[in-house]
Amino acid sequence: MNGTHAMLSHFPVGFWALATLMILVGTFLSGRWAELSRAALLPVLVLSLLGGLAAIVIGLLVWPMEANLASPLARNHMLMAFWSLGIFSMITVLVWKAGDTAFEGNRRWALVILALTGGLMFSSAGTLGGHLSGASTAFSDVLGLMGWEVYTTFYSPLWVISVMVIIGIALGALGLMNLRKTG
Ligand code: HEM
Repeated sequence: MNGTHAMLSHFPVGFWALATLMILVGTFLSGRWAELSRAALLPVLVLSLLGGLAAIVIGLLVWPMEANLASPLARNHMLMAFWSLGIFSMITVLVWKAGDTAFEGNRRWALVILALTGGLMFSSAGTLGGHLSGASTAFSDVLGLMGWEVYTTFYSPLWVISVMVIIGIALGALGLMNLRKTG
């Protein structure tokens, strides 16, 4: 069964990488490739979520939770998998709700920031999966340069979480103010 997880995990990694590329092409380029990227983004995102869910479900079915939670590497792997799914779910809702206007004005920057953050998350999830199966890569060293030694449980200092909550509240308030202005 762990072969099934290794096989299924290629789907979210592939689709998330493709969606990130399509958002960058749709934002920074013009012409046919940019149009195609914008038009085909939603189906790719939906497929990526189905792939992500399949990899997560099979991952949770294959290995006992005690084993997953006992290892910092596996805990980090799951954390990054859930973050990736969360960020790409957010992008999917934004693109779905905005329809043809998803890339208009400042909206595109929200997509770019979320896609780059999601890119970092799913690359970390995949890298840690490789580590777990005995195939580490140089990307772990890159994470090390950013201050995260992957054999220790990832944690955010309290001040980082506080800053994130403040940014979240500020953006929510900004959104509400804009909504009142336009509607
Ligand atoms: C949250 C649920 C998940 C759990 C519990 C889990 C657990 C694991 C474990 C224990 C391994 C090591 C397998 C081995 O020893 O051969 C592994 C490998 C791997 N996982 Fe996950 N995983 C989860 C979700 C994901 C997701 C969503 C992705 C996609 C980003 C992913 C990508 C990978 C990759 C690429 C490998 C290496 C596969 C190989 O080449 O053997 N995992 N996972």
